[in-house]
Amino acid sequence: MPTRRRVMSYGALLAGGATLAGCDDTGVQQATAQLQRRLALPGSVDGRERLRTLVHAATLAPSSHNTQCWRFVLGRDSIRIEPDTTRRCPAVDPDDHHLFVSLGCAIENLVLAALAHGLKAEPRIGADGRVDIALAPVRQQLATRYMAIPQRQTTRGPFDGRPLPAATWRQLEDTASGDGVTLRLVNDTARLERVLDAVAAGHRVQFSDAAFVDELVQWLRFDAGEAAASGDGLFVGCSGRPSLPPWLARRLVRRFLSAGAETDLAAEQLRSSAGVVIVASDGAAGPAGWIGVGRAFQRLALEATAAGLQLSLLNPPVEVAALRGPFAAAFGLGALRPDLVVRIGRGARRPDSLRRPLGAVIA
Ligand SMILES: Cc1cc2nc3c(=O)[nH]c(=O)nc-3n(C[C@H](O)[C@H](O)[C@H](O)COP(=O)(O)O)c2cc1C
Repeated sequence: MPTRRRVMSYGALLAGGATLAGCDDTGVQQATAQLQRRLALPGSVDGRERLRTLVHAATLAPSSHNTQCWRFVLGRDSIRIEPDTTRRCPAVDPDDHHLFVSLGCAIENLVLAALAHGLKAEPRIGADGRVDIALAPVRQQLATRYMAIPQRQTTRGPFDGRPLPAATWRQLEDTASGDGVTLRLVNDTARLERVLDAVAAGHRVQFSDAAFVDELVQWLRFDAGEAAASGDGLFVGCSGRPSLPPWLARRLVRRFLSAGAETDLAAEQLRSSAGVVIVASDGAAGPAGWIGVGRAFQRLALEATAAGLQLSLLNPPVEVAALRGPFAAAFGLGALRPDLVVRIGRGARRPDSLRRPLGAVIA
């Protein structure tokens, strides 16, 4: 079990920097994010504008490092989603596993948005990971999960530590399991500490790898201006960290990123959570299976959001290849590949992350 370390963390660096710069620009970020999350009212758009609205909903999905690793091609009665391989993260995700999981999240949003706009969406996954989605008229259906799309966020702050009723866990599990996806609920203290041990082991590997750190820093956005200019990446304000002038932060940040500090943060996150859901699948299924995992995870995230819950991910035990087998064994998952580690609970919302404009993702 990791002990509490008295190291100066990245968060501490940024907190000091914020005093230096006198800069809290999260309000600007949140106002922009709220505008970006306004979806067109069902029935108010038609033709190509309706297809663009479905893409808009898809882009509000989560993606690893907020890379938004997708591209959309509009047909007359169809939309194709392709992986944008220029946005791969080879250090943390060498086999593109989380890239395709992210694509699955976007597809789930698109399917829900299509129903809200009176279209039945039938995704067909090609061998190359491209997904052709045929759209046909159907009775309009405003699902609760669709309504939750603009509200869903990855909330990395502490939760309130209260347990969830068994019925709520069952509802979340029913929503997301099936179709080759297995969920493992961990909500007792002893096993949550084992999850934390695995996260700590993952951090030790990742933060001693220069390529991992370089890639992470490349996707960090140190103030609202930098976040708005790119419309992607991890804005520090979304993690509760104050902004710092990017030129200064980029020069200093590597000195202060450490496994110990990140694990301290994870300990606070895990110990305040109601529980963790490990999402697992048949690893041999490849991109089609990973897209299925993304769709299942997004159903879980939207169902949780609709129930007033928050969630975030602690994925190091599934990102570091050598840890995956022991992690699966520790939680009775046998030969399945653990895909995601999701913590769930009740907590204060953080500023929402930004997205790139539709013009940047529609070919
Ligand atoms: C496949 C996948 C893996 C992710 N892994 C992590 C993770 O390990 N840690 C984390 O804090 N967030 C993780 N995220 C969350 C993303 O960083 C987040 O979705 C992105 O920054 C956009 O923010 P939003 O979810 O609030 O819209 C992951 C998301 C996806 C889809």
